Amino acid sequence: MTAGFDFQGATFDLESPTDRALIQFILSQALYGEATGVYCGKSLYAARSLEAARFYVRQARQELNHLELFADIFRTLEMEPVEAHWVVRVLSAHNNYYPLKVVMEHALGEGMVLDIFQDVLLQTLPDSDPRVPDIKKKLAVVCREEEEHVAWGEKETKRVLSEQPWLRHPFYGLLLLQLMLAPFIVRAFEARAAAHPVLRHVKGFLAHVEARVRLQGRKLGFVPEPEPSRAVRWLCMASGLLLLIRSQFARSKSRLEHIYLRELGFTR
Ligand SMILES: [Fe+2]
Ligand SMILES: [Fe+2]
Repeated sequence: MTAGFDFQGATFDLESPTDRALIQFILSQALYGEATGVYCGKSLYAARSLEAARFYVRQARQELNHLELFADIFRTLEMEPVEAHWVVRVLSAHNNYYPLKVVMEHALGEGMVLDIFQDVLLQTLPDSDPRVPDIKKKLAVVCREEEEHVAWGEKETKRVLSEQPWLRHPFYGLLLLQLMLAPFIVRAFEARAAAHPVLRHVKGFLAHVEARVRLQGRKLGFVPEPEPSRAVRWLCMASGLLLLIRSQFARSKSRLEHIYLRELGFTR
């Protein structure tokens, strides 16, 4: 991961009702995201190696643990979760096509989740509040495990792209679409942004996330450098959308029962 965004010491005030509503909003998105962690069960079903199967079993256990850790954080702060934002629901939507799951859920999706946990929550919850140190300990555990999930997603994305290089065009298009959607999450706060110590940085934070995601895609080999023309970008987005639509009708296929002998080191 690249260096995180610097909120320059700005923190929320856990006694202020407006700030509590903002934290409640952020934590509610996190809680929903962790609930969608069960989608890695489908990745387990489609696992193409014993190593992948082992990873997804471990991940499933960790995601359920994260879900409960966030529930604990809500209870510690005496807050109730609210519904997830529509953009978060769209960005974390499930699909059955394994290559898309790998890039959208594991590499890009969990990468952005980590941005929120590591950059926003760990920096902007005020250490002056006696409840916060314990919350940050929990968040640090979550961040460490999310880093592993992203690393796995990146490794699998590289493998998928080496087997199916044509996927880099729709993957690039989907990354662009994700980046177009992300700013909608903060639309509701924009009017108040200038006057708030943390919200003031939201625009800068979004730009940081965008740059980090583009760099991640470049390192994975599906974001071209320099940026292609607008026409090519639209074509990639169209192919990404087509792949996304097709994936809604894809049937998840299991592989381990075909490869288990080889994977276990038997000769046949
Ligand atoms: Fe998680
Ligand atoms: Fe995760």
